[in-house]
Amino acid sequence: MTRWVVITGASSGIGQALTICFADSECNVLAIGRNEVALQHTRSFIKNGNVVTVVADLSDENEIEKVVKNINPDDGIQYLIHCAATTEPHMPLTMTGRAALKKSIDINVMAPIFLTQQFAPYFDTTTRVLFIGSDYVGVNNKIRPGISGSYGISKSALRVAVEYFRHEYKDTALIGYLNPGSTDTPMFKAMKTAVLSQQGIFNNSVQAAHPSSVAKFIQAVLEKTSNQDYNAIDWDFRVVTHHQKILSDEPAIKKINIRSGL
Ligand SMILES: NC(=O)c1ccc[n+]([C@@H]2O[C@H](COP(=O)([O-])OP(=O)(O)OC[C@H]3O[C@@H](n4cnc5c(N)ncnc54)[C@H](OP(=O)(O)O)[C@@H]3O)[C@@H](O)[C@H]2O)c1
Repeated sequence: MTRWVVITGASSGIGQALTICFADSECNVLAIGRNEVALQHTRSFIKNGNVVTVVADLSDENEIEKVVKNINPDDGIQYLIHCAATTEPHMPLTMTGRAALKKSIDINVMAPIFLTQQFAPYFDTTTRVLFIGSDYVGVNNKIRPGISGSYGISKSALRVAVEYFRHEYKDTALIGYLNPGSTDTPMFKAMKTAVLSQQGIFNNSVQAAHPSSVAKFIQAVLEKTSNQDYNAIDWDFRVVTHHQKILSDEPAIKKINIRSGL
């Protein structure tokens, strides 16, 4: 029986870095992206390892069904990592149209929910599903009016979905949640450009982590944490004690600064 690591958003940023990390694992990797050229670029970094790339627009329910067919009925899923997301449209919520808001919710909320449902028959009690979150969750944390309404709404909805899945899949799989904080990816750059163009200033003290550092942290959270910690903690790359739970590399821990994030 083949075990799989399924990664969405594998064509860019954190998902790309995760695909490279997990290519060395004992599992097969199903790397999903929308942009075929970018996905092939991810592929080009992988010398060995069993990585299957799938081009799919996850905002389309038919494409989600197509993705799941890449796994044989006898196979199992070790990790399902939901990275794909968009921060667009970068405009005030007061001006955001129905189609634009729906697109954001389709990719940021519907895709991870329905991919999880569709892959659930391949789960067992060792399967770990991971939802990648954000600072833009709820109303008590960071919101950036004028730019991130759709993103904030969708990431908040996703965080609530995680809670439901934790209860409803409690005998089926382990459900995790992780906030990477600012990470130097195309998404971070696009948000920075939007902030600069609309607000004229960007806090340059915000240090974005390298995607490969974030990917190594995510891999360690998936591979090294106890079942109880994995399920109970909202993992955050910026929280030093979270690194201390999984790494013995003290110098690396000291280099981590507390940064704001998307
Ligand atoms: N970067 C940060 O500072 C930051 C901070 C907090 C949270 N996050 C979260 O981290 C995760 C990864 O973000 P990132 O920074 O790595 O972003 P990124 O580099 O922009 O990558 C986003 C990925 O999502 C995919 N995607 C977007 N729409 C899609 C669709 N309709 N169907 C299929 N795939 C689609 C993109 O695919 P294509 O390129 O192939 O279209 C791309 O691979 C996201 O969930 C994000 O919210 C990021």
